[in-house]
Amino acid sequence: MKISVILGTRPEIIKMAPLLKILEAKRADFFTLHTGQHYSYQLDTVFFEQMALPRPKYNLEAGSGSHAEETARMLTGIEKILLDEKPNIVLVEGDTNSVMAGALAAVKLGIKVGHVEAGLRSYDRNMPEEINRVITDHIADYLFAPTPKAKQILLGEGISKEKTYVTGNTIVDAIGQYLEPARRKIDISSQFKLKPQKYFLSTLHRQENTDNKERFTSILEGLSEVAEKYRLPVVYPIHPRSRKIMESLGRKTNNLKIIEPVDFFSFLQLESHARLILTDSGGVQEEACILGIPCVTLRDNTERPETLDIGANILAGAAVESILTSTEIMLDRKTDWVHPFGDGHAAERIFNIIAEAENG
Ligand code: UD1
Ligand code: UDP
Repeated sequence: MKISVILGTRPEIIKMAPLLKILEAKRADFFTLHTGQHYSYQLDTVFFEQMALPRPKYNLEAGSGSHAEETARMLTGIEKILLDEKPNIVLVEGDTNSVMAGALAAVKLGIKVGHVEAGLRSYDRNMPEEINRVITDHIADYLFAPTPKAKQILLGEGISKEKTYVTGNTIVDAIGQYLEPARRKIDISSQFKLKPQKYFLSTLHRQENTDNKERFTSILEGLSEVAEKYRLPVVYPIHPRSRKIMESLGRKTNNLKIIEPVDFFSFLQLESHARLILTDSGGVQEEACILGIPCVTLRDNTERPETLDIGANILAGAAVESILTSTEIMLDRKTDWVHPFGDGHAAERIFNIIAEAENG
């Protein structure tokens, strides 16, 4: 069985890391195809280096531009490589353009597709990620749902139960493997001049927030007022997309401690010691929940409703008042929830499922 892992962005590299490690350990016949959707050192190479991951055999350098341009470059490049390499199965993770392009190119060539983190839905078709999720799930041969809820969503959409497996989320595996090394290597007080529990952590990069001037400005104002009210810094490792737009808005952000995007170990440490996290990231909502840190989600919906159900997360949207109220509510919450994302053996489970099915 020959496997192609197709990935392209920061969260895919991090969440595929445990699977890449297993493929390496089992001496599986595999190669990584990087679409190049993310290419800046801090969004890409730093993760391969820090987690000592096998390097991609191919990089299409297909990143940036409009959705159609980027996706078209990916589809053309991926197809050529798949025709040449002839893998039996393509594995993709998550909901980015790279995921959808990898799955679509493969399925049209009659190559099987395994979708890691299948069955997530925000039911908001204005999000490019929702379109990518729906398409990928409906063309995949193996659907690795992180939770029973995600599996139910897939079954509800008519996807056959024979294709659908509840595996847990590979981010639990990644945290299990890298939290200790992160603790040993990163000290937030010397590296970031921060004291445990004495800061808020924020990330904000979603298209529906950054590309809408009113929403983006309102969220930045909300973060600024949170910093002022609690007299604690809001640390914001800023995604290049948001940096660009913030600069074009010319808005002052004196109350926010804006820093460059950080490596995974540093981010895990920043998360672990934060008083609370405010984010629009999918992955960061999960990590906050797993690490026991209260989360305020700067969106109107989430495809991770399990975090809301157990009280680990709250939806604040973009309004200043709501960000302040939600922060207050979450600061009062008990943090004794049990996270719903699995036991840290998702990658192993995924490998075993495909090995058994493909090798017989
Ligand atoms: C993408 C995903 C999003 C995911 C995020 C993870 C899609 C539709 N969006 O959003 O779901 O949450 O990755 O971080 O797939 N840029 C750089 N350096 C880079 C990459 C991007 O400077 O390495 C800048 C470019 O100006 C680019 C912009 O960021 O135009 C947006 O990049 P893009 O990959 O299109 O989307 P993300 O916002 O990163
Ligand atoms: N992350 C990181 N450095 C940062 C910000 C985030 O390593 O400065 C990691 C974070 O730990 C998580 C992932 O990036 O694993 C989330 O990616 P992102 O928010 O870009 O994408 P999303 O999950 O929203 O698709």
